[in-house]
Amino acid sequence: MKPIDRTMLGQVMAPVATARGLPNPFYTDPEVYELEKAKVFAPSWVLIGFGKDLAEPGMAKPVDHLGVPLVMVRDRDGQIRVFQNVCRHRGMILVSETTRLKGVLRCPYHSWCYELDGKLRSTPHVGGPGQNIDASIRREELGLVEVRSTVWMDMVLVNLSGTAPAFEDHAHRLIERYSEFARMPLYHGGPDSSFKLEVKTNWKLAVENYCESYHLPWVHPGLNSYSRLEDHYHMYEPGFAGQGSSAYTPGFGPNGERFAKFASLSDKWDKCAEYPSVFPNALLGFHNDHYFTIMIEPVGHDRTIEHVEIYYADPQMLGEDYAAMRQRNAQLWKGIFVEDIFVVEGMQRGRAAPGFDGGKFSPAMDGPTHAFHHWVAERFAA
Ligand code: FES
Repeated sequence: MKPIDRTMLGQVMAPVATARGLPNPFYTDPEVYELEKAKVFAPSWVLIGFGKDLAEPGMAKPVDHLGVPLVMVRDRDGQIRVFQNVCRHRGMILVSETTRLKGVLRCPYHSWCYELDGKLRSTPHVGGPGQNIDASIRREELGLVEVRSTVWMDMVLVNLSGTAPAFEDHAHRLIERYSEFARMPLYHGGPDSSFKLEVKTNWKLAVENYCESYHLPWVHPGLNSYSRLEDHYHMYEPGFAGQGSSAYTPGFGPNGERFAKFASLSDKWDKCAEYPSVFPNALLGFHNDHYFTIMIEPVGHDRTIEHVEIYYADPQMLGEDYAAMRQRNAQLWKGIFVEDIFVVEGMQRGRAAPGFDGGKFSPAMDGPTHAFHHWVAERFAA
């Protein structure tokens, strides 16, 4: 593989009016995709899953994170921890599906057992039949390898390298901007509020498309009929960028019925909804009556899975009385995200054109998209 051209990175990091976008290999070259794992993902805080999937202490869910086997575990104190999903004996995968553990993580190969905090508790017959200890097997040195993790807005985020600033410092502008939401509990809508889309595109194109509202009139004519291009505004902050609408007017039932609102929101949220892309892979949607996260899961240089999870403000919204409205809300969002597929797949196919030079940004309309390119280029330049 050719080394990444630093002059090219400089062009990407130039001011938006003169910048070029990331060039084709960042979308089409499997070797650049592999390099991204080390340069972009490992040093960052990356979304790998959701707390709602670990409803009670003792629940565990395996995650294949860019080829690294991880397992999320809710420990006895209710805290979510993330470990490498591999036994310290002979490297067997410990957890293969979401499961309610019987007190410990038991390896299915030779039954070494780990506490929910990762400590190695028992090693049956390790010193010979009937001998559960061996002088050379020091349990205190053989706990599961824990991965640095945190939870915010029900998102489980990991920092594989262990070198990122603390999430609270790294994301303080994000945390500050959405503190009104983060201080309240979120109630996931259940199976009808959870769906995924498999898309033939590089993960970055899914993020880029979410950053901007420029495409709204042509790709989302239905949405544009009540939240027009001119109702949207942009935001740029360290670590995230995106857009908001000042014309959010929800109504999900046949007579305009609404979901309960989040309590004590400031006046801004009467009409505003915001859609930040939190780099690298969390796309969020804040509304006064519901919230969603899209986890962008790269599964190859040209394959991405989008996992959508929708939450509400009040547990009453989870009941049967609101099922039709929840389904309608999920269908509305699914319809909008499906409308985006032809453009993110079309841009991916477009990257096969050797004459494409990374493209040109509109300073007025593509600022958040450029902010994301800049962020990626910075990671490669570091
Ligand atoms: Fe896990 Fe042997 S590989 S106990």
